[in-house]
Amino acid sequence: MAWRLLAKPFRLLGTTRAFSNTVDGGIKGPSMKTAVPGPKTKELIAEMDEITQSSMASVFVDFDKSKGNYLVDVDGNVILDTFCQISSLPLGYNHDAITEAVSKKENLMGLVNRSSIMMFPPKDFVQKMKSSLLMCAPPGMSQVTAMMCGSCANENAIKAAFIWYMDKKRGNANIGPDSEEFSTALYNKPPGCPDLSVLSFDGAFHGRTIGVLSATHSKPIHKLDIPAFDWPIAPFPQLKYPLEDHVTENKAEEQRCLQRVTELIDEYNAKQKFVAAAIIEPIQAEGGDNHASPEFFKGLRKICRDKGVAFIVDEVQTGVGTTGHMWAHEAWQLDDPPELVTFAKKMQLGGYYHTNDCKPRHSYRIFNTWMGDPARLALAEVIVKEIKENDLVKNAKEVGDVFLGGLKDLENKYPQLLLKARGSGTFCAIDCKTAAAKDTLVTAVRNKGVYVGVSGDCTIRFRPALIFQRQHAELTLEVIESVLKEL
Ligand SMILES: Cc1ncc(COP(=O)(O)O)c(C=O)c1O
Repeated sequence: MAWRLLAKPFRLLGTTRAFSNTVDGGIKGPSMKTAVPGPKTKELIAEMDEITQSSMASVFVDFDKSKGNYLVDVDGNVILDTFCQISSLPLGYNHDAITEAVSKKENLMGLVNRSSIMMFPPKDFVQKMKSSLLMCAPPGMSQVTAMMCGSCANENAIKAAFIWYMDKKRGNANIGPDSEEFSTALYNKPPGCPDLSVLSFDGAFHGRTIGVLSATHSKPIHKLDIPAFDWPIAPFPQLKYPLEDHVTENKAEEQRCLQRVTELIDEYNAKQKFVAAAIIEPIQAEGGDNHASPEFFKGLRKICRDKGVAFIVDEVQTGVGTTGHMWAHEAWQLDDPPELVTFAKKMQLGGYYHTNDCKPRHSYRIFNTWMGDPARLALAEVIVKEIKENDLVKNAKEVGDVFLGGLKDLENKYPQLLLKARGSGTFCAIDCKTAAAKDTLVTAVRNKGVYVGVSGDCTIRFRPALIFQRQHAELTLEVIESVLKEL
């Protein structure tokens, strides 16, 4: 990560303890009054169902009372939250700096007058972009385009890649599209709407809107009944754990997947469905917390470069510090930056960083009424500042190491129940033997006051806020162990 435009060096807080004493606002630990969901949540779910789909609702939250790492639900249960609104809370609940920023008049203006930001930018727009999104841009990237959510960040990054690809194909940046391209484009026909494709990976999740759904392959229910593009799908490495005991096999597995990527690009190019981009998550999240090595990603980057394919790194879930790097792909130490890096979740607004040549030359090719949001940009500014001043990326790395060590200990102690402890920073996961065992464990842990997430079929995933401390990690491990003992 290249911290930009920074006037002052880091201000480190005196000790970790000083920080942790304040983040949870006096909440000392979980305290449970009912099972989860409790009776009040159940009542509200029933009411909700009368007006909209309620089947995804897990707990109704009392956001007033929630603080730091603790979610308080409407039944008065105080729950240590290691899932944090599907990995989207950077600083936990009701963080003082965010509350303060929201109450500032200049930031309130963004709420009162939501601007169509690219056409009518607020007067401080450029400064705000520089002090938020660009302040923490990935290495080598100086351009950013704001969007609303993760899916729409990926949709538009893919569009930018298509435009980039066709510009290159036309050969000369000054030669624009010809009249045939314009006349066919309106009717969904080539050459105006060319038959381009995007390579994605088995188990990937890039969102649920119609375009990116063709690159999402984590659960069939997400895709059912929705028409899809014929785009290439490469295998994602299935690594064996513990990694240190399977070095040779895992290397061969990654080579197999890279070989298949090359073959697929050649196959699709040969059938005139030219591969314009490859999109990948640094750690497959929704698909079951699947990891691959930096060498794999470097190999993929090289294939993309050699074949003229845009390399899109989807950091919607891995981005903003949680893996122990501001951007997870920094761990790969690439020679040249990806063409596009997408983000959302912890940044509070979506968007993508991109290289200069991924900026379209014509207006309105990438455009929405709302692209980002001035109010959310003001929050992103505070978040980036807090991360920096409190060294929260380092915190995620250090606490993550402790946490992963604890998960590995549990795996060694309960090998009949747990396997594949893995993670980077606090972006950790562990598998159960079966989906049913995972459900039992997750429910019991929740009822003891720790909310954990799930991914894939058998995986428990942890996505705490960046203010997650060693004592929160230890508490989580203790609660999980107390349940394992009873199983
Ligand atoms: C890696 C990744 N990409 C894209 C998305 C879609 O983001 P959103 O739900 O904001 O549309 C998600 C959401 O979980 C994600 O994890």
